[in-house]
Amino acid sequence: MSSPDAFEHLDTAGAVASGAHIAPVMTSSGGGEDGDSRARAQSSALVVAKTATTSTFDNVRFYTEVQEDNWSERAKKHLWMHFSRMGAYENGGSIPIITKGEGVYIFDDRGKKYIDGIAGLFTSQLGHGRQELADAYDRQAMTLGYFPIWSYAHPRAIELAERLASLAPGDLNHVFFTSSGGEAVETAIKLIKQYFKITGQGTRHKVISRAVAYHGTTQGALSITGIPAAKVMFEPLITGHFKVPNTNFYRAPPNHRQDVIEFGMWCANRIEEMILFEGPESVAAVFVEPLQNSGGCFPPPAGYLQRVRDICTQYGVIMVCDETITAFGRLGEYFASTRYGVVPDIITCGKGMTSGYFPMGAMIANEKLYEPFRYGTTSFLHGFTFGGHPAGAAIALANLDIFEREGINEHVRSLEVPFQKTLEKLYDIPIVGDIRGAGFFWGIEMVKNRETRESFNSDESEQLLRGFLSKALFDNGLYCRADDRGDPVIQLAPPLICTQEHFNEIEAILRRVLLEASRLFQGISRDKLKSSKTIKAKSKL
Ligand SMILES: Cc1ncc(COP(=O)(O)O)c(C=O)c1O
Repeated sequence: MSSPDAFEHLDTAGAVASGAHIAPVMTSSGGGEDGDSRARAQSSALVVAKTATTSTFDNVRFYTEVQEDNWSERAKKHLWMHFSRMGAYENGGSIPIITKGEGVYIFDDRGKKYIDGIAGLFTSQLGHGRQELADAYDRQAMTLGYFPIWSYAHPRAIELAERLASLAPGDLNHVFFTSSGGEAVETAIKLIKQYFKITGQGTRHKVISRAVAYHGTTQGALSITGIPAAKVMFEPLITGHFKVPNTNFYRAPPNHRQDVIEFGMWCANRIEEMILFEGPESVAAVFVEPLQNSGGCFPPPAGYLQRVRDICTQYGVIMVCDETITAFGRLGEYFASTRYGVVPDIITCGKGMTSGYFPMGAMIANEKLYEPFRYGTTSFLHGFTFGGHPAGAAIALANLDIFEREGINEHVRSLEVPFQKTLEKLYDIPIVGDIRGAGFFWGIEMVKNRETRESFNSDESEQLLRGFLSKALFDNGLYCRADDRGDPVIQLAPPLICTQEHFNEIEAILRRVLLEASRLFQGISRDKLKSSKTIKAKSKL
């Protein structure tokens, strides 16, 4: 499990920082560079002579050169990166600099090409370099570049609110724009508090959420986040937050491991238990992601979300689906709530709304929650300068147009099983314990011992993820995320335009790196690894 300081988002950049402190260049012919980028890499002047050392990978070399533009050194001086150990870059480490994106690929300042295995940060749904989205910004910027939605409105925000309301399930008709997913969560918490105060239920203020879930970094969103290591430095946070089990079936308690449906019911019933324990009249809300990200993609067992819905309805508690990641096609629907057939009272979303071309999020509330604000003098005492930004809204609308025109949701649905099958080929590698997820959103949990499901301890996890895996994946041309907020996992959430060819590319890189990880971290010899292909692939279909 994670160590107290192990919360950092371990994307590949972090691993480069904490690993060999040197930036990578592929030297094999299979290094993934196209002719164009290779030429650029060759022509780019290296200010400092390169020193090559051979890594644990025979075909990868690392260089300690500094590029002409010196982005890395400049970044170190003034750019404070998020969830990053800046100190790891201080002793000669080079910060990976991403300069360009094209479709499902990104390029670094050396011209090296990587497949974007996590859509930036679960965000670049339509991929990089979409002219239409850039044009949408240009057009709107020249018409009305900025205006707030504080007592005034403008056409793009109105159109986007209409569109989101029409796509959201049930009667979730009222859209409150934010600039991020965390702000949407914060907004939901505040709306719920005000709603109960003005409807005569002021004792309701407690919020229930799930273990290891991440809901953002602002004080309210952090309070309901279920990752102690992320919170400890900022406590005391907002009081009245309670945690219940998530739906990680692989790590279910031994007496609930036989039947996933039964496990789902057990998990949901823990919510009821918590409500009863705290007193229903004091509980305001339950926050769940339809498919939990943090910890490595925990899908909801069939019936789980319906049971949560029923419990919330029974006890007058607001059900919030935090769809910051799962909305906008990630699971093959505009909203994952639709996929799982549940209608919460609130949906929070962000990330993929603009495919990352503008920071934008929203809280979408149902008629019941809006009702006390519909008439009279009551306003929701909350807002953001950039909420509903006209250019952001224009991009979001163009994003949705492309979703429709190109059938993005249908594409994700039709390739979900092929993606899953491709990843499940990795079950022949001993370190692969569990592969789980849905749509274009998958987690691979690594274990020390597959038979017993024994996980790595904190030190081993640190070595595996920071010391080896993330860097090795990046060096081999895959930008993705190795995460230890729960047990160690690799997360994959590529742009929604990926095809089988890209899945194969991802699988090939993972295979190479995970075989090496098995050798290094499970002590499995190369000979044994060769014959590991005979280990029967585990299929969960
Ligand atoms: C489920 C969930 N909620 C909230 C957030 C916070 O979103 P943001 O970083 O846009 O504030 C995230 C970010 O990853 C998330 O995954």
